[in-house]
Amino acid sequence: MTLFPDRVLSGMRPTGAMHIGHYHGALKNWVRLQDEYPCLFFVADWHALTTHYEETQKVTDDAWDMVIDWLAAGVDPAKATIFIQSRVPEHAELFLLLSMVTPLGWLERVPTYKDQQEKLSDRDLSTYGFLGYPLMQAADILIYRSTMVPVGEDQVPHVEMTREIARRFNHVFGAEPDFEVKAKAAVRKLGASAKRFAELRTRYQQEGGAESLQQARALIDTVSDLSLEARERLFGYAEGAHRVILAEPAALLTEVSKMPGLDGQKMSKSYNNTIALREEPEAVTKKIRTMPTDPARVRRNDPGEPERCPVWQLHLVYSDEATRQWVQTGCRTAGIGCLECKQPVIDAIVRELAPLRERAQRYLDDPALVRDIVTDGCAKARAMAGETMRDVRQAMGLVRDR
Ligand code: TRP
Ligand code: SF4
Repeated sequence: MTLFPDRVLSGMRPTGAMHIGHYHGALKNWVRLQDEYPCLFFVADWHALTTHYEETQKVTDDAWDMVIDWLAAGVDPAKATIFIQSRVPEHAELFLLLSMVTPLGWLERVPTYKDQQEKLSDRDLSTYGFLGYPLMQAADILIYRSTMVPVGEDQVPHVEMTREIARRFNHVFGAEPDFEVKAKAAVRKLGASAKRFAELRTRYQQEGGAESLQQARALIDTVSDLSLEARERLFGYAEGAHRVILAEPAALLTEVSKMPGLDGQKMSKSYNNTIALREEPEAVTKKIRTMPTDPARVRRNDPGEPERCPVWQLHLVYSDEATRQWVQTGCRTAGIGCLECKQPVIDAIVRELAPLRERAQRYLDDPALVRDIVTDGCAKARAMAGETMRDVRQAMGLVRDR
Protein backbone atom coordinates (compact mmCIF):
# COMPACT_ATOMS: atom_id res chain seq x y z
CA MET A 1 0.00 0.00 0.00
CA THR A 2 2.93 2.26 0.23
CA LEU A 3 4.81 3.98 -2.51
CA PHE A 4 7.71 4.64 -0.22
CA PRO A 5 9.09 2.18 2.33
CA ASP A 6 8.58 2.74 6.04
CA ARG A 7 10.86 5.35 7.45
CA VAL A 8 10.64 7.00 10.84
CA LEU A 9 11.83 10.54 11.37
CA SER A 10 11.75 12.73 14.42
CA GLY A 11 13.55 15.77 15.69
CA MET A 12 14.00 17.72 18.88
CA ARG A 13 15.04 21.24 19.52
CA PRO A 14 18.21 21.49 21.54
CA THR A 15 17.17 22.85 24.92
CA GLY A 16 20.02 21.95 27.24
CA ALA A 17 20.21 18.93 29.51
CA MET A 18 17.41 16.49 28.86
CA HIS A 19 15.52 15.13 31.84
CA ILE A 20 13.79 11.91 32.85
CA GLY A 21 10.50 13.26 31.53
CA HIS A 22 11.99 13.34 28.03
CA TYR A 23 13.38 9.88 28.64
CA HIS A 24 10.04 8.33 29.59
CA GLY A 25 8.19 10.33 26.94
CA ALA A 26 10.11 10.50 23.70
CA LEU A 27 13.47 8.80 24.03
CA LYS A 28 12.38 5.36 25.21
CA ASN A 29 9.95 5.39 22.31
CA TRP A 30 12.77 6.16 19.86
CA VAL A 31 14.89 3.39 21.32
CA ARG A 32 12.04 0.98 20.71
CA LEU A 33 11.36 2.25 17.19
CA GLN A 34 14.98 1.91 16.08
CA ASP A 35 14.60 -1.86 16.38
CA GLU A 36 11.47 -1.89 14.26
CA TYR A 37 12.07 0.57 11.42
CA PRO A 38 14.78 2.50 9.66
CA CYS A 39 14.93 5.63 11.81
CA LEU A 40 16.33 9.12 11.45
CA PHE A 41 16.67 11.28 14.55
CA PHE A 42 17.95 14.81 14.28
CA VAL A 43 18.74 17.84 16.36
CA ALA A 44 16.52 20.65 15.11
CA ASP A 45 19.01 23.45 15.73
CA TRP A 46 17.62 25.73 13.04
CA HIS A 47 14.23 25.37 14.70
CA ALA A 48 15.72 26.60 17.94
CA LEU A 49 16.93 29.70 16.11
CA THR A 50 13.38 30.64 15.17
CA THR A 51 12.80 31.53 18.82
CA HIS A 52 16.35 31.99 20.14
CA TYR A 53 18.29 33.71 17.39
CA GLU A 54 20.28 35.77 19.86
CA GLU A 55 21.66 32.66 21.58
CA THR A 56 23.25 30.88 18.64
CA GLN A 57 26.31 29.72 20.57
CA LYS A 58 24.18 28.14 23.26
CA VAL A 59 22.02 26.47 20.65
CA THR A 60 25.10 24.92 19.06
CA ASP A 61 26.54 23.73 22.38
CA ASP A 62 23.17 22.34 23.40
CA ALA A 63 22.88 20.51 20.09
CA TRP A 64 26.01 18.47 20.71
CA ASP A 65 25.08 17.92 24.31
CA MET A 66 21.71 16.62 23.27
CA VAL A 67 23.33 14.04 21.02
CA ILE A 68 25.18 12.73 24.07
CA ASP A 69 21.88 12.53 25.96
CA TRP A 70 20.35 10.52 23.13
CA LEU A 71 23.28 8.14 23.02
CA ALA A 72 23.10 7.84 26.80
CA ALA A 73 19.42 6.96 26.56
CA GLY A 74 20.24 4.12 24.18
CA VAL A 75 19.69 5.61 20.76
CA ASP A 76 22.10 3.46 18.81
CA PRO A 77 24.07 4.89 15.88
CA ALA A 78 24.41 1.36 14.51
CA LYS A 79 20.64 1.22 14.14
CA ALA A 80 19.42 4.80 13.71
CA THR A 81 20.79 7.72 11.74
CA ILE A 82 21.62 10.57 14.10
CA PHE A 83 22.32 13.99 12.64
CA ILE A 84 22.18 17.72 13.12
CA GLN A 85 19.80 19.68 10.90
CA SER A 86 22.14 22.55 10.05
CA ARG A 87 24.66 20.09 8.67
CA VAL A 88 22.21 18.92 6.03
CA PRO A 89 21.63 22.14 4.09
CA GLU A 90 19.22 20.37 1.70
CA HIS A 91 16.58 20.99 4.39
CA ALA A 92 16.89 24.69 3.66
CA GLU A 93 16.59 24.17 -0.08
CA LEU A 94 13.39 22.17 0.23
CA PHE A 95 12.04 24.66 2.77
CA LEU A 96 12.61 27.43 0.25
CA LEU A 97 11.07 25.60 -2.67
CA LEU A 98 8.04 24.53 -0.65
CA SER A 99 7.55 28.12 0.47
CA MET A 100 6.64 29.03 -3.12
CA VAL A 101 3.45 27.00 -2.95
CA THR A 102 2.56 27.46 0.71
CA PRO A 103 -0.41 29.75 1.30
CA LEU A 104 0.30 32.26 4.07
CA GLY A 105 -2.99 31.39 5.70
CA TRP A 106 -1.88 27.82 6.32
CA LEU A 107 1.02 29.08 8.41
CA GLU A 108 -0.98 31.72 10.23
CA ARG A 109 -3.58 29.13 11.14
CA VAL A 110 -1.15 26.69 12.80
CA PRO A 111 -2.24 26.68 16.46
CA THR A 112 1.30 26.95 17.89
CA TYR A 113 1.85 30.21 16.00
CA LYS A 114 -0.49 32.39 18.06
CA ASP A 115 -0.11 30.23 21.21
CA GLN A 116 3.62 30.64 21.35
CA GLN A 117 3.45 34.33 20.54
CA GLU A 118 1.21 34.76 23.54
CA LYS A 119 3.09 32.40 25.84
CA LEU A 120 6.60 33.56 24.99
CA SER A 121 5.72 37.22 25.07
CA ASP A 122 9.26 38.12 26.16
CA ARG A 123 10.65 36.88 22.84
CA ASP A 124 10.71 38.44 19.43
CA LEU A 125 8.45 36.12 17.48
CA SER A 126 7.30 38.54 14.84
CA THR A 127 9.86 37.24 12.38
CA TYR A 128 9.50 35.51 9.06
CA GLY A 129 11.52 32.61 10.47
CA PHE A 130 9.06 32.00 13.27
CA LEU A 131 6.06 32.11 10.97
CA GLY A 132 7.80 29.69 8.62
CA TYR A 133 8.80 27.26 11.31
CA PRO A 134 6.07 24.65 10.63
CA LEU A 135 7.03 24.71 6.96
CA MET A 136 10.64 24.07 7.88
CA GLN A 137 9.35 21.11 9.86
CA ALA A 138 7.43 19.95 6.79
CA ALA A 139 10.66 20.11 4.80
CA ASP A 140 12.46 18.09 7.51
CA ILE A 141 9.85 15.38 7.18
CA LEU A 142 9.28 15.38 3.42
CA ILE A 143 12.94 15.46 2.45
CA TYR A 144 13.33 11.89 3.78
CA ARG A 145 10.00 10.72 2.42
CA SER A 146 9.27 9.80 6.02
CA THR A 147 6.20 7.71 6.51
CA MET A 148 6.01 7.92 10.31
CA VAL A 149 6.72 10.85 12.56
CA PRO A 150 6.68 10.17 16.30
CA VAL A 151 5.65 13.41 18.01
CA GLY A 152 3.75 14.70 20.98
CA GLU A 153 0.20 15.94 20.68
CA ASP A 154 1.22 19.59 20.26
CA GLN A 155 3.07 18.69 17.05
CA VAL A 156 0.24 16.82 15.34
CA PRO A 157 -1.09 19.92 13.53
CA HIS A 158 2.38 20.36 12.04
CA VAL A 159 2.33 16.84 10.64
CA GLU A 160 -1.17 17.49 9.33
CA MET A 161 0.05 20.58 7.54
CA THR A 162 2.97 18.58 6.18
CA ARG A 163 0.49 16.20 4.57
CA GLU A 164 -1.32 19.12 2.97
CA ILE A 165 1.95 20.54 1.70
CA ALA A 166 2.89 17.18 0.18
CA ARG A 167 -0.49 16.91 -1.53
CA ARG A 168 -0.24 20.43 -2.84
CA PHE A 169 3.28 19.95 -4.10
CA ASN A 170 2.37 16.71 -5.85
CA HIS A 171 -0.68 18.36 -7.34
CA VAL A 172 1.17 21.40 -8.64
CA PHE A 173 4.42 19.79 -9.74
CA GLY A 174 3.42 16.20 -10.33
CA ALA A 175 1.31 17.19 -13.28
CA GLU A 176 3.34 16.47 -16.39
CA PRO A 177 2.10 17.59 -19.81
CA ASP A 178 2.13 14.01 -21.03
CA PHE A 179 1.08 12.51 -17.72
CA GLU A 180 -1.98 10.76 -19.05
CA VAL A 181 0.02 8.99 -21.76
CA LYS A 182 2.77 7.97 -19.39
CA ALA A 183 0.32 6.88 -16.72
CA LYS A 184 -1.55 4.70 -19.21
CA ALA A 185 1.71 3.09 -20.23
CA ALA A 186 2.38 2.39 -16.58
CA VAL A 187 -1.08 0.88 -16.18
CA ARG A 188 -0.30 -1.55 -18.99
CA LYS A 189 2.75 -2.68 -17.05
CA LEU A 190 0.39 -3.92 -14.36
CA GLY A 191 -0.38 -6.80 -16.70
CA ALA A 192 -3.17 -8.98 -15.38
CA SER A 193 -4.05 -6.38 -12.73
CA ALA A 194 -4.40 -3.51 -15.22
CA LYS A 195 -8.12 -3.95 -15.72
CA ARG A 196 -8.87 -4.14 -12.03
CA PHE A 197 -6.75 -1.02 -11.43
CA ALA A 198 -8.69 0.91 -14.06
CA GLU A 199 -11.99 -0.17 -12.52
CA LEU A 200 -10.95 0.89 -9.05
CA ARG A 201 -9.67 4.20 -10.38
CA THR A 202 -12.93 4.90 -12.16
CA ARG A 203 -14.91 3.96 -9.09
CA TYR A 204 -12.82 6.26 -6.92
CA GLN A 205 -13.15 9.13 -9.36
CA GLN A 206 -16.88 8.67 -9.72
CA GLU A 207 -17.90 7.80 -6.19
CA GLY A 208 -14.96 8.88 -4.05
CA GLY A 209 -14.39 6.53 -1.16
CA ALA A 210 -10.98 6.03 0.29
CA GLU A 211 -11.33 2.27 0.01
CA SER A 212 -11.23 2.11 -3.79
CA LEU A 213 -8.21 4.37 -3.78
CA GLN A 214 -6.51 2.17 -1.21
CA GLN A 215 -7.28 -0.98 -3.15
CA ALA A 216 -5.98 0.54 -6.36
CA ARG A 217 -2.76 1.53 -4.62
CA ALA A 218 -2.46 -1.87 -3.01
CA LEU A 219 -2.57 -3.41 -6.48
CA ILE A 220 0.51 -1.43 -7.46
CA ASP A 221 2.38 -3.17 -4.67
CA THR A 222 1.55 -6.63 -5.96
CA VAL A 223 3.45 -6.05 -9.17
CA SER A 224 7.18 -6.36 -8.81
CA ASP A 225 9.80 -4.83 -11.13
CA LEU A 226 7.94 -1.56 -11.70
CA SER A 227 10.25 1.44 -11.84
CA LEU A 228 9.88 4.06 -9.14
CA GLU A 229 8.69 6.53 -11.77
CA ALA A 230 5.97 4.16 -12.90
CA ARG A 231 4.95 3.59 -9.30
CA GLU A 232 4.83 7.33 -8.62
CA ARG A 233 2.63 7.89 -11.64
CA LEU A 234 0.31 5.00 -10.84
CA PHE A 235 0.06 6.08 -7.23
CA GLY A 236 -0.98 9.54 -8.31
CA TYR A 237 -3.03 8.35 -11.27
CA ALA A 238 -5.20 6.27 -8.95
CA GLU A 239 -6.28 9.51 -7.35
CA GLY A 240 -6.10 12.09 -10.09
CA ALA A 241 -3.71 13.25 -12.72
CA HIS A 242 -0.36 13.75 -11.09
CA ARG A 243 2.66 11.87 -9.85
CA VAL A 244 3.37 11.42 -6.17
CA ILE A 245 6.80 12.87 -5.53
CA LEU A 246 6.55 13.60 -1.84
CA ALA A 247 5.17 11.07 0.62
CA GLU A 248 2.40 11.98 3.03
CA PRO A 249 3.61 11.12 6.51
CA ALA A 250 1.53 9.91 9.44
CA ALA A 251 1.95 11.21 12.95
CA LEU A 252 2.84 8.51 15.44
CA LEU A 253 1.41 9.93 18.61
CA THR A 254 3.84 9.63 21.49
CA GLU A 255 2.06 8.94 24.72
CA VAL A 256 2.35 11.93 26.97
CA SER A 257 4.85 11.28 29.69
CA LYS A 258 3.11 11.53 33.01
CA MET A 259 6.39 12.30 34.66
CA PRO A 260 5.69 14.68 37.50
CA GLY A 261 8.30 17.24 38.39
CA LEU A 262 9.83 17.64 41.84
CA ASP A 263 7.06 20.04 42.78
CA GLY A 264 4.16 18.00 41.42
CA GLN A 265 3.72 20.13 38.30
CA LYS A 266 4.65 18.59 34.97
CA MET A 267 8.40 18.07 34.76
CA SER A 268 9.78 20.90 32.68
CA LYS A 269 12.95 22.86 32.46
CA SER A 270 11.04 26.11 32.68
CA TYR A 271 9.63 25.10 36.07
CA ASN A 272 13.09 24.21 37.36
CA ASN A 273 11.74 20.93 38.74
CA THR A 274 13.67 18.34 36.74
CA ILE A 275 15.97 15.42 37.26
CA ALA A 276 18.49 15.39 34.44
CA LEU A 277 19.27 12.27 32.47
CA ARG A 278 22.85 12.41 33.65
CA GLU A 279 22.09 13.53 37.20
CA GLU A 280 24.59 12.20 39.76
CA PRO A 281 23.24 9.83 42.44
CA GLU A 282 24.01 12.35 45.19
CA ALA A 283 22.03 15.03 43.37
CA VAL A 284 19.11 12.66 42.76
CA THR A 285 19.09 11.80 46.45
CA LYS A 286 19.18 15.42 47.51
CA LYS A 287 16.49 16.49 45.07
CA ILE A 288 14.08 13.77 46.12
CA ARG A 289 14.80 14.16 49.81
CA THR A 290 13.95 17.85 49.66
CA MET A 291 10.78 17.32 47.64
CA PRO A 292 7.60 18.69 49.18
CA THR A 293 5.13 16.08 50.45
CA ASP A 294 1.51 16.16 51.59
CA PRO A 295 1.32 19.52 53.38
CA ALA A 296 -0.89 17.88 56.01
CA ARG A 297 2.06 15.78 57.23
CA VAL A 298 3.78 18.39 59.29
CA ARG A 299 5.05 16.02 61.97
CA ARG A 300 6.15 12.42 61.67
CA ASN A 301 3.00 11.29 63.52
CA ASP A 302 0.55 13.11 61.26
CA PRO A 303 -1.13 10.75 58.82
CA GLY A 304 -0.93 11.76 55.17
CA GLU A 305 -2.72 11.23 51.89
CA PRO A 306 -0.65 10.01 48.91
CA GLU A 307 -3.09 11.59 46.46
CA ARG A 308 -2.02 14.98 47.74
CA CYS A 309 1.68 14.20 47.52
CA PRO A 310 3.96 14.62 44.49
CA VAL A 311 6.18 11.78 45.74
CA TRP A 312 3.27 9.41 45.24
CA GLN A 313 3.19 10.40 41.58
CA LEU A 314 6.77 9.20 41.31
CA HIS A 315 5.84 5.92 43.00
CA LEU A 316 3.25 5.49 40.25
CA VAL A 317 6.05 5.69 37.69
CA TYR A 318 8.73 3.75 39.52
CA SER A 319 7.28 1.39 42.11
CA ASP A 320 5.74 -2.05 41.93
CA GLU A 321 2.40 -2.94 43.45
CA ALA A 322 3.84 -4.15 46.77
CA THR A 323 5.77 -0.93 47.31
CA ARG A 324 2.74 1.15 46.43
CA GLN A 325 0.66 -0.75 48.99
CA TRP A 326 3.37 -0.12 51.56
CA VAL A 327 3.24 3.61 50.76
CA GLN A 328 -0.54 3.85 50.86
CA THR A 329 -0.87 2.11 54.19
CA GLY A 330 2.24 3.57 55.74
CA CYS A 331 1.34 7.12 54.76
CA ARG A 332 -2.27 7.00 55.86
CA THR A 333 -1.42 5.42 59.23
CA ALA A 334 1.72 7.46 59.76
CA GLY A 335 3.47 4.12 59.87
CA ILE A 336 6.32 5.34 57.70
CA GLY A 337 8.11 8.66 57.52
CA CYS A 338 8.39 10.66 54.33
CA LEU A 339 12.13 10.11 53.99
CA GLU A 340 11.55 6.39 54.34
CA CYS A 341 8.84 6.61 51.71
CA LYS A 342 11.12 8.44 49.33
CA GLN A 343 13.97 5.94 49.48
CA PRO A 344 12.53 3.38 47.00
CA VAL A 345 12.01 6.20 44.49
CA ILE A 346 15.58 7.41 44.96
CA ASP A 347 16.86 3.87 44.50
CA ALA A 348 14.78 3.28 41.39
CA ILE A 349 15.85 6.49 39.67
CA VAL A 350 19.53 6.00 40.56
CA ARG A 351 19.32 2.44 39.26
CA GLU A 352 17.57 3.55 36.09
CA LEU A 353 20.09 6.27 35.35
CA ALA A 354 23.25 4.27 36.12
CA PRO A 355 23.61 2.72 32.65
CA LEU A 356 22.76 6.06 31.03
CA ARG A 357 25.46 7.84 32.97
CA GLU A 358 27.91 5.12 32.10
CA ARG A 359 27.18 5.40 28.39
CA ALA A 360 27.36 9.19 28.52
CA GLN A 361 30.73 9.04 30.25
CA ARG A 362 32.26 7.14 27.36
CA TYR A 363 31.30 9.95 25.01
CA LEU A 364 32.32 12.70 27.41
CA ASP A 365 35.73 11.08 27.75
CA ASP A 366 36.13 10.77 24.01
CA PRO A 367 34.36 13.59 22.14
CA ALA A 368 35.77 12.32 18.85
CA LEU A 369 33.33 9.42 19.12
CA VAL A 370 30.39 11.81 19.09
CA ARG A 371 31.88 13.81 16.27
CA ASP A 372 32.27 10.68 14.18
CA ILE A 373 28.73 9.52 14.89
CA VAL A 374 27.30 12.87 13.84
CA THR A 375 29.55 13.13 10.78
CA ASP A 376 28.51 9.68 9.69
CA GLY A 377 24.82 10.37 10.38
CA CYS A 378 24.93 13.65 8.47
CA ALA A 379 26.52 11.94 5.47
CA LYS A 380 23.83 9.26 5.44
CA ALA A 381 21.08 11.84 5.83
CA ARG A 382 22.52 13.97 3.04
CA ALA A 383 22.56 11.02 0.70
CA MET A 384 18.86 10.35 1.34
CA ALA A 385 17.94 14.03 1.19
CA GLY A 386 19.89 14.34 -2.04
CA GLU A 387 17.80 11.67 -3.72
CA THR A 388 14.56 13.44 -2.88
CA MET A 389 15.95 16.79 -3.94
CA ARG A 390 16.95 15.40 -7.32
CA ASP A 391 13.35 14.32 -7.87
CA VAL A 392 12.00 17.60 -6.53
CA ARG A 393 14.18 19.73 -8.79
CA GLN A 394 13.33 17.57 -11.73
CA ALA A 395 9.58 17.65 -11.01
CA MET A 396 9.70 21.41 -10.63
CA GLY A 397 11.44 21.74 -13.95
CA LEU A 398 14.52 23.33 -12.43
CA VAL A 399 16.84 20.99 -14.28
CA ARG A 400 17.52 21.64 -17.89
CA ASP A 401 17.81 18.21 -19.39
CA ARG A 402 17.26 19.00 -23.03
N1 TRP B 1 8.92 21.08 16.14
C1 TRP B 1 9.42 19.98 16.93
C2 TRP B 1 9.37 20.37 18.40
O1 TRP B 1 9.35 21.53 18.72
C3 TRP B 1 10.83 19.60 16.53
C4 TRP B 1 10.89 19.21 15.10
C5 TRP B 1 11.45 19.94 14.09
C6 TRP B 1 10.39 18.01 14.53
N2 TRP B 1 11.34 19.26 12.93
C7 TRP B 1 10.72 18.08 13.14
C8 TRP B 1 9.73 16.90 15.04
C9 TRP B 1 10.36 17.07 12.27
C10 TRP B 1 9.37 15.88 14.15
C11 TRP B 1 9.68 15.97 12.78
O2 TRP B 1 9.36 19.48 19.22
FE1 SF4 C 1 4.12 11.58 50.44
FE2 SF4 C 1 5.15 9.28 51.14
FE3 SF4 C 1 5.15 11.30 52.85
FE4 SF4 C 1 2.88 10.11 52.22
S1 SF4 C 1 4.64 9.20 53.29
S2 SF4 C 1 3.22 12.30 52.36
S3 SF4 C 1 3.21 9.60 50.12
S4 SF4 C 1 6.26 11.18 50.91
